[in-house]
Amino acid sequence: MTVSSAPGKVYLFGEHAVVYGEPAVPCAIERRATVTVEPRDDDHVRVVAEDLTLDGFTVEYSGSTDSGPDVDVPRPLVQAAMGYIDAAVDQARDAADAPDAGFDITVESAIPLGAGLGSSAAVVVAGIDAATRALGVDLDPEEIADRAYRAEHEVQDGQASRADTFASAMGGAVRVEGDDCRAVDAPALPFVVGFDGGAGDTGELVAGVRALREKYDFAADTVEAIGDIVREGETLLAEADPESEPSEDLLDALGELMDFNHGLLEALGVSSRSLDSLVWAARSGDAYGAKLTGAGGGGCIVALDPTDETQTALQYTPGCVDAFRAELATTGVRAED
Ligand code: MEV
Repeated sequence: MTVSSAPGKVYLFGEHAVVYGEPAVPCAIERRATVTVEPRDDDHVRVVAEDLTLDGFTVEYSGSTDSGPDVDVPRPLVQAAMGYIDAAVDQARDAADAPDAGFDITVESAIPLGAGLGSSAAVVVAGIDAATRALGVDLDPEEIADRAYRAEHEVQDGQASRADTFASAMGGAVRVEGDDCRAVDAPALPFVVGFDGGAGDTGELVAGVRALREKYDFAADTVEAIGDIVREGETLLAEADPESEPSEDLLDALGELMDFNHGLLEALGVSSRSLDSLVWAARSGDAYGAKLTGAGGGGCIVALDPTDETQTALQYTPGCVDAFRAELATTGVRAED
């Protein structure tokens, strides 16, 4: 039996625009998905995931989830989760040169699915690590990040960036621009997350931005403007001391850029009434800045606040089902066995 975990993430800046080659800065957070893998004697895959969706699920199949005869996954979120797990299994089989390997897989996750915290990337990253190790192959985190990206790319119809999977595999704050992925030295930022209990369909939201960008010049300009915000933010981070508490000036400046970034995401049509209401609740709770994180449509916002005020304000906001402080996860994918 092999067990691996990988962290979720929040976007400090740059989601969506990163799909078109602009830079983004996602940060891994201490909310992890854990995947346990036991090789089987046949080529079947059995997946048990009690907490990945509201009521959990168990699925067993042979072949792939697209074509397997004994698969019945009627619920969209379960379907989405199974797409990612199946793609991770394919990557592990390919890495270990074992096309017929079968597995019993258990997924446990503290990251809500489709909520902008990188749950699918964390499950794919941890899944590839656990399944390859179960087959006697050790991949380094860069290769896991690359294979996890290929898995996400396939599931999201060729519309994924490397950002979520690289952050989850490597941990810490990272910078992604096209194929160029690297760690960023950043001080421990005081992230607060608010969750509206909803989920967005990443593939659909990315396709929506693509269509808008093709139809309107303003949308293409908005994507570029998000890139400018990321570059401003990077300069601020580069000037900060990564070993010290972030200064008030730094939080002020980063927060302002987060607010701009949220406004631009809203213009691209990926926010929602409840995400906007959490963003405004965080701002009135004294956050330095707040924005949605991830694909949008529903799910989570991220705010900057070293005090408890934003978390408390979010907790009392109608429509907020959870608010918590998110520590930077300095370790990415890791073995837990
Ligand atoms: C989703 O967490 C982030 C997006 O930028 C898509 C991607 O980068 O693959 C919306």
